[in-house]
Amino acid sequence: MKKITIAIDGFSSTGKSTVAKQLAKALGYVYVDTGAMYRAVALYAMQNQLISNDHFDVEKLVSVLNKIKISFKYNDILGFAEVYLNGKNVEKEVRTLEVSQRVSQVAEISAVRKMLVQQQKQMGQEKGVVMDGRDIGTVVFPDAELKLFMTASTETRAERRYKELIEKNENVSYEDVLHNVESRDLIDSTREDSPLVKADDAIEIDNSNLSLDAQFEKLLVLAQNKISE
Ligand code: DC
Repeated sequence: MKKITIAIDGFSSTGKSTVAKQLAKALGYVYVDTGAMYRAVALYAMQNQLISNDHFDVEKLVSVLNKIKISFKYNDILGFAEVYLNGKNVEKEVRTLEVSQRVSQVAEISAVRKMLVQQQKQMGQEKGVVMDGRDIGTVVFPDAELKLFMTASTETRAERRYKELIEKNENVSYEDVLHNVESRDLIDSTREDSPLVKADDAIEIDNSNLSLDAQFEKLLVLAQNKISE
């Protein structure tokens, strides 16, 4: 059967990864979470004291990019691939609010984007992939057969992210999470290199009032139609 590329972009916490995982499972495709790759680079910068509240040594980070090896390994129990940084599983660490507070600054750097986009293109070269991020339909796979652009109100998104973090026992306040969602959206959509914009041919899905099941059904039909075209 024909394989396609599914590109899912959108603001933070719009549920991209949830539906991307559902689609990948239903279609037998590979799911790639590109946000996890930017998060892993941010974690490396934090672990090596290259970034903190009042300082960010961009030059140094760029000079050590060749030491950052990011990979994914499928976890049978979880049903998706976890992210590894230089051989270590960092799936949990990259999801903390601390990393969320640094990652957009790291994702602004062109050298970081260039390195990661190259790896992403390689991961999807055989199609049969569902990839989510901010620039997948515009930069990584401008020829993707199906492009989705996810949106939801800021409050809905902050509530979702807050719940997720609380469930993981992270000690965060709703206000901090809301502030993080707003500030990341601003940086992600106004940066010079590959800002978050809806591709002209992307289908916009506002899921503020859509159940997970309803959303999945709708997007699966879109994907199946593209596959049988
Ligand atoms: O999807 P996420 O929230 O895990 O992504 C984390 C950050 O990484 C996000 O704020 C912007 C950046 N990012 C990006 O610039 N390009 C991508 N393709 C994916 C993520």
